[in-house]
Amino acid sequence: MKFFVDTADVAEIRDLLDSGLVDGVTTNPSLIMKSGRDFFEVIAEICEMVPGPVSAEVAATTVDGMLAEAAKLTPIAPNVTIKVPLTWDGLKATRRLSAEGVKVNVTLCFSAAQALLAAKAGASFISPFVGRLDDIGVDGLELISDICQIYAQYESIRTEVLVASVRTPGHVIEAAKMGAHVATLPPGVLRGLALHPLTDKGLAAFLKDWEATGQKIV
Ligand code: E4P
Repeated sequence: MKFFVDTADVAEIRDLLDSGLVDGVTTNPSLIMKSGRDFFEVIAEICEMVPGPVSAEVAATTVDGMLAEAAKLTPIAPNVTIKVPLTWDGLKATRRLSAEGVKVNVTLCFSAAQALLAAKAGASFISPFVGRLDDIGVDGLELISDICQIYAQYESIRTEVLVASVRTPGHVIEAAKMGAHVATLPPGVLRGLALHPLTDKGLAAFLKDWEATGQKIV
């Protein structure tokens, strides 16, 4: 499973990139607002740091508007992925952009039917929002399972399932068991994947016993 970081915080991205475990970045208008940075500047900076796909979301709601914004965003760097909302206009824009070889991440997906349309439109990524479905009492992971199952039926579908709105390591593990290609994670959730209380307890005990030996490795 590939891991993207869901943030526009350049310091966080730099820190996490150092681990060698980050394959890409996703942003959205809310994350850009939170960064307090100029959209074009921050996307350019992230694209330079990250070798993999970096999602930059359009703000237009019409096909023509989305295409015009995509035309401004794609020259930023070769690894820019255009993020469009899962609306009828978004699907039309996806079709046009993917036909031109532009990578598109279709976002705000909340149903398997929407995911099927995005694949047919040629999306490189579909972003189903797990946490926001859980928030309204619908099992978000069931949607991931449905989409993975549907996409697996058709060899012609190349769209990658990009699990979004991830809130817990449990979301990541369950989605990985279903074969989802990518998870985009808030930095805290990515770091949280490495944690286990028994690891901390075991390490503390080993270090105490090692100190008692009085030895040094270097
Ligand atoms: C996905 O690309 C979105 O940026 C993100 O995962 C949304 O997450 P949220 O529901 O925590 O805002």
